[in-house]
Amino acid sequence: MTIKIQGVENMNNQQKLKYVLQLSKGQIETEDDPIALFSNVSAIIKGVLPDLNWAGFYFVKGGELVLGPFQGLPACTRLQGDKGVCAKAWRDKKPVRVDDVDAFPGHVACDSASKSELVVPLVKDGEVIGVLDLDSPILNRFSEEDERCLVELVDILVEKL
Ligand code: SME
Repeated sequence: MTIKIQGVENMNNQQKLKYVLQLSKGQIETEDDPIALFSNVSAIIKGVLPDLNWAGFYFVKGGELVLGPFQGLPACTRLQGDKGVCAKAWRDKKPVRVDDVDAFPGHVACDSASKSELVVPLVKDGEVIGVLDLDSPILNRFSEEDERCLVELVDILVEKL
């Protein structure tokens, strides 16, 4: 199924978030292959939401977080469980919003342009199987509203895994 992102310029944040959900649901309903699906969802997020320099997934494999489909500059391929924002979301099984990554001890800087970050764990059958990671080049980019919408998105995405 092909998708076209359009009319985003005139939308407010809430409308953009709803649009991300709507486009992603269209993909979720029509595509079963996880690589195809997660690739397009990362492209939808990065294409619709403003002020992001990176949007993508890491999956838990062999005790590490291993890079999955994403949009943005090449990133760290493996993250350890004891360091960084993604690892915290993995360990705590909860979303982590960081307004200023430089003030987060152990932040893993894959791209020095990143200033704030939102990580949402992918929880399936009570276990974290991966994370959705969003990076922004501006401070304080992510709101509670962003977090709620992305939690809703990953909840429906994990059902496809
Ligand atoms: N900043 C993340 C690492 C992943 S990149 O941002 C793509 C962290 O601290 O876990």
